[in-house]
Amino acid sequence: MKNPFDILEQNALNFKLTPISFREIFFIAETPCDIYAQVDGLLKVILHKKAEINTQLLKELLQKKMANLFVMQDDRKLLRLAQQENLTNVTRSLSIGDPLEKARLQTNLLTLNMGYLYEDPTDDNVLNLQVQSAKNLATFLFNKPQIHETLYKEYIRQGHHYIFAQPFLSTLFLLGVMKNSRLYIDKDIELFFLTSYFKDIGMSAIPVEKYNDEHLTDEDKILLASHPTLSVNILKGRVPLPPNHLKIIENHHIYSTLTNQMNLSSKDDPNNIFGFETMMISVMDTVAAMTTDRPFRKAESLFKSLDLIRLLIGEQYPQEFKLIVFYFKNFFKTL
Ligand SMILES: [Fe+2]
Repeated sequence: MKNPFDILEQNALNFKLTPISFREIFFIAETPCDIYAQVDGLLKVILHKKAEINTQLLKELLQKKMANLFVMQDDRKLLRLAQQENLTNVTRSLSIGDPLEKARLQTNLLTLNMGYLYEDPTDDNVLNLQVQSAKNLATFLFNKPQIHETLYKEYIRQGHHYIFAQPFLSTLFLLGVMKNSRLYIDKDIELFFLTSYFKDIGMSAIPVEKYNDEHLTDEDKILLASHPTLSVNILKGRVPLPPNHLKIIENHHIYSTLTNQMNLSSKDDPNNIFGFETMMISVMDTVAAMTTDRPFRKAESLFKSLDLIRLLIGEQYPQEFKLIVFYFKNFFKTL
């Protein structure tokens, strides 16, 4: 039975607490602050500051259905800092230890930090950390194509929100195709990885919750459609991407619809120098999106995705289309 004091206390807590993702207590050895959850209908501290966190504990919380966690608003930054320190450390020691284990940790921490970046895309520290970590991961993964499939499978299983997962998945595919095509030198790899990975940062203009709903308002739809331009505005002068790569970001949805394709200039047009790279980034994005679930639809088959890609680029880029089909058929065969 709730007494009046409980009710007052709970109301006060309701004001002071802010929800966190269950994932935000993964990867840290101890809690940097008190963690709250609902216990028998009341908000209570379930992990005190400096409580040890291990796999067993995380499993128990899930079993007790305590996945909806909260922290005091002022403590949120402590949790964020702990995870960012983790990301910095893993980035520095990426080449030490088991490559798959390291890549798995790095991708999960990067995805967490992507969430922090979406909360405030103007924060230079968060952006710099993300860029540096993504750069290191690019070279690391480019040299280890043998772990891509397993990494993909395990990353999907993590169940990150698709808004934060999609940039990594599409970029992993891009890296794989680039590796297969043997067309690029290392410096290119890093730049294309960053271009692909940060192309959707402009979507941070729309609150993440709204992406779970298929029916956005007209205003949201306009914002969403302008995300490539917003991405460029957020990144310009703040990341080590040359103008040509920002141009790719600006055009990264050019292949998304057949009607847009009709407006494309010929690939031999000198004004369309980055046509091929833009096409690759756009196509990898489309396949990554179609082959994964969304809150409002199930994943499509690889066959259906490639069929759409054939319609989009088959005529203009027949050789590249074959390369893409070859890559994906091999990739998904092992999954
Ligand atoms: Fe996009």
